[in-house]
Amino acid sequence: MQCKMSAACRTALFIGELRENKAMPLHIRPLSGAVGAEITGMDLAAASADDLIAEIRRLWLQYGVVFLRNQPLPPADFQALAERFGEVVEYPFVKGIEGHPLIIPVLKLAHERNNFGGIWHTDTAYLETPPMATMLIAREVPPVGGDTLFASGAAAFEALSPAMQRMLEGLTGVNTSIKADVTKTREDRIKDAPTAQSKKELSAEHPVVRTHPETGRKSLYVNFGHTARFAGMTEEESRPLLEFLFAHQVKPEFTCRFTWNVGDIAFWDNRCVLHNPVNDYHGYKRLMHRVTLRGDRPA
Ligand code: SIN
Repeated sequence: MQCKMSAACRTALFIGELRENKAMPLHIRPLSGAVGAEITGMDLAAASADDLIAEIRRLWLQYGVVFLRNQPLPPADFQALAERFGEVVEYPFVKGIEGHPLIIPVLKLAHERNNFGGIWHTDTAYLETPPMATMLIAREVPPVGGDTLFASGAAAFEALSPAMQRMLEGLTGVNTSIKADVTKTREDRIKDAPTAQSKKELSAEHPVVRTHPETGRKSLYVNFGHTARFAGMTEEESRPLLEFLFAHQVKPEFTCRFTWNVGDIAFWDNRCVLHNPVNDYHGYKRLMHRVTLRGDRPA
């Protein structure tokens, strides 16, 4: 879908979805004008149907992140579902759960203060080939709080002036795994389940504006968690423009917010969507299981 996602355009799409889906009784509820839709009306446990998977994939490309309510799949089935969309790959810094090395626990215990990944980021942008997608399932949620925010990098790019867009298209971002704001969010889990790489710095250079290999839409591809500077510039020189971009890309009009129940699944396109789990539930445990799917080199 190439149109800029104004609220009117979204409404038209929504009506279109209801019409198109007569044969397959999915219900699609966009969560905002820019990004995210809930899909209900399916039973994933019973779903091996290729057409259902193809439809979810189509909606995922359109909305950037889709939410599948109340699908409490056990770990093996959760991974099998993810494998319908791509190749599940290892997360470098934390070991997987018992018996499922590719599923990592996204966990905050009642006594802990930092939540895993608790700042705006796209997953592992410091890899040469960052994951195409992330799938997360809620296992245990606090009575209130622990929502996840999502932001559309495409809507953020499209809202910039043409001159700014042209300038950014000539820039490359240097992404690193060791920015202090993000390392502190993984410390508790690295203590529990380190990997051989847990203490390493990983870094990769990627275009500041990337073109989605499937939709052709351009997105801002920097993030507060991992982008340290522009290639060829110092951190000090890069900071003013990066700070502008970090604030711009998460303006409310580019975002949506998802409130979890146990068994809900979120599936986001890591090539064009940022996320930020809200750390507002001290005193309660929150446990999610996460897999990531192999991506390509951003271009
Ligand atoms: C993450 O994958 O960064 C965690 C997202 C969340 O806990 O909602």
